[in-house]
Amino acid sequence: MVETGLSWVRIGEFAWSRLEPSPGQLDFEWLDRAIDVLARAGLKVVLGTPTATPPRWMLDKHPDMLPIDAEGRPRRFGSRRHYCFSHTGYREECRRIVTLLADRYGRDPRVAAWQIDNEYGCHDTTLSYSAAALAGFRDWLAQRYQSPQALNRAWGNVFWSMEYTEFDEIDLPNLTVTEANPAHVMAFRRFASDEVVAFNRVQTDVLHARTDAPLIHNYMGQITEFDHFDVGQDLEIASWDSYPMGFLLDRTPATEDHKLTFARSGDPDFQAFHHDLYRSVGKGRWWIMEQQPGPVNWAPWNPAPMPGMARLWAWEAFAHGAETVCYFRWRQAPFAQEQMHAGLLRPDSVAAPALAEAAQVAQEIETLGAVGTAKAQAAIIFDYPSAWAWEAQPQGADFDYFALVFDAYRALRRAGLSIDIVPQGADLTGYAIVLAPGTFKFSASTLKALAGTDAQILAGPRANARDEDFALPNPLPPNLPGLDTVVSRLESLPPGLDIALADGGVFRSWFEHLEGAAEVRARTANGDPAIVAAGSMAYLAGWPDAAAWDGIVTDMAKRAGLSMAALPDGLRIRDTDTHRFVFNYAPHEVTWDGETYQPAEVRWSELPQS
Ligand code: GAL
Repeated sequence: MVETGLSWVRIGEFAWSRLEPSPGQLDFEWLDRAIDVLARAGLKVVLGTPTATPPRWMLDKHPDMLPIDAEGRPRRFGSRRHYCFSHTGYREECRRIVTLLADRYGRDPRVAAWQIDNEYGCHDTTLSYSAAALAGFRDWLAQRYQSPQALNRAWGNVFWSMEYTEFDEIDLPNLTVTEANPAHVMAFRRFASDEVVAFNRVQTDVLHARTDAPLIHNYMGQITEFDHFDVGQDLEIASWDSYPMGFLLDRTPATEDHKLTFARSGDPDFQAFHHDLYRSVGKGRWWIMEQQPGPVNWAPWNPAPMPGMARLWAWEAFAHGAETVCYFRWRQAPFAQEQMHAGLLRPDSVAAPALAEAAQVAQEIETLGAVGTAKAQAAIIFDYPSAWAWEAQPQGADFDYFALVFDAYRALRRAGLSIDIVPQGADLTGYAIVLAPGTFKFSASTLKALAGTDAQILAGPRANARDEDFALPNPLPPNLPGLDTVVSRLESLPPGLDIALADGGVFRSWFEHLEGAAEVRARTANGDPAIVAAGSMAYLAGWPDAAAWDGIVTDMAKRAGLSMAALPDGLRIRDTDTHRFVFNYAPHEVTWDGETYQPAEVRWSELPQS
């Protein structure tokens, strides 16, 4: 590891059955030895808390701690993440084991950072329909609404005679005959997110009292079931686990053609999106805790990366301000679920192809030094509750909040812009462009931030479209200050029923008919408003395809006086404080601006300093 130039090693994140082989019988000696070996070699340790993998005996102590799926079935022991966030007995077990670890290693300088649990929400584990969740939900509702009458009013429970007279009559919103009230679903989703925050806080409270080392969680890609910004408030650093090729084939919204083109390099924007998101979740401090080094085991297909990609992925992360990039894993495990998952070493300890790339990156970092994280030209508002809202009520089968925001992000990247992804309420001064697609309800602080920026703003579609309790507001959406427009009717569109735009491209999946006196800035081919505006505040009436997005971003950049790049497919730019980085994700040579880039090439040049 030291020869490769690595400096951090994460250990222990699933080791509960070895730390405590039977209840109360503790064995930390093997961990002491591991920490000692690593520290003597000059490596810093990230110690994981083992709470994502309770050992088998835990189920005998707490038979009802398993998560329950929406069909009412317990999810069994035999892999990982087999716990319900709401189970108070399990939370106490977590407090106990973390206290033991923190008492032993909290002031040990060799343990220089902590990872709490592992990948909250992975494998669909945020939502649990257990008895513990039910009890917690009723309590949460009583605190939020104070009386069943207030809840009935807020949810509109007079509809279908759904009124309650006691909080204890309220069930979780699964297994209903037809759909549950979206207000009920939305409340459950808010509750479930708060449960992740509360579960995490049990551990951060213990650790913050016993260590000054930074606390980190390793988030996943495209998981929206809990509010990462809320969890991030209790941690010093955000990190995420970046599997560019696994994610492309497993979850990235993209066409089959696109997936084939980038099958060996990963989507050119998916990693960058999460780098920008988690930089914000980490309040500026973020890492890659796990970087894919070769084929993984869990995607539908697992091709090998092009030579150079492990290096490119690491550099894209550093260019987005990552403090650290760790690889998963060091050596391929010859046993169990991940025996087909590549490491930096093969199972026989011979170097796998990514090892040399990791070594090259380590050397290059030494010579280049810190490049800083400049404030980006464009901002996108990302809002987890909006993802829950539109899952509670998609209205069209393919309406997907993440995909909508990601499309907007991609368009900014194709224009060569650097982007900050920010939560609601973030300060928006200093940006040239602000996009807020699909934000189901703007908070008062967001409205204030929108009013306080000189940026060109584009909100919509589906912006400010519900109140906190999921009722349609009156005045009707989008109800944006100074913008005289109302969504008078809306429609979702099945695949193929696209709405052509006068300036090129189409709206697909979603279209809102707008009425009012606001200036019409773009129209559909039929002459209906597609974008309306008042000064720098504009509203978008549908879900643009890539061609339409390119036109929109070009127009906004022009109005904002920004120069943009119109990059070829696969080429991407990221500007830092000191350097411009250019990355070629394409599996072929790409020429741009008189320069030719080889597949997987990374090139950086100093930016002129004003
Ligand atoms: C992550 C996880 C690791 C390992 C890896 C496989 O989800 O944190 O423990 O399972 O993916 O790619």
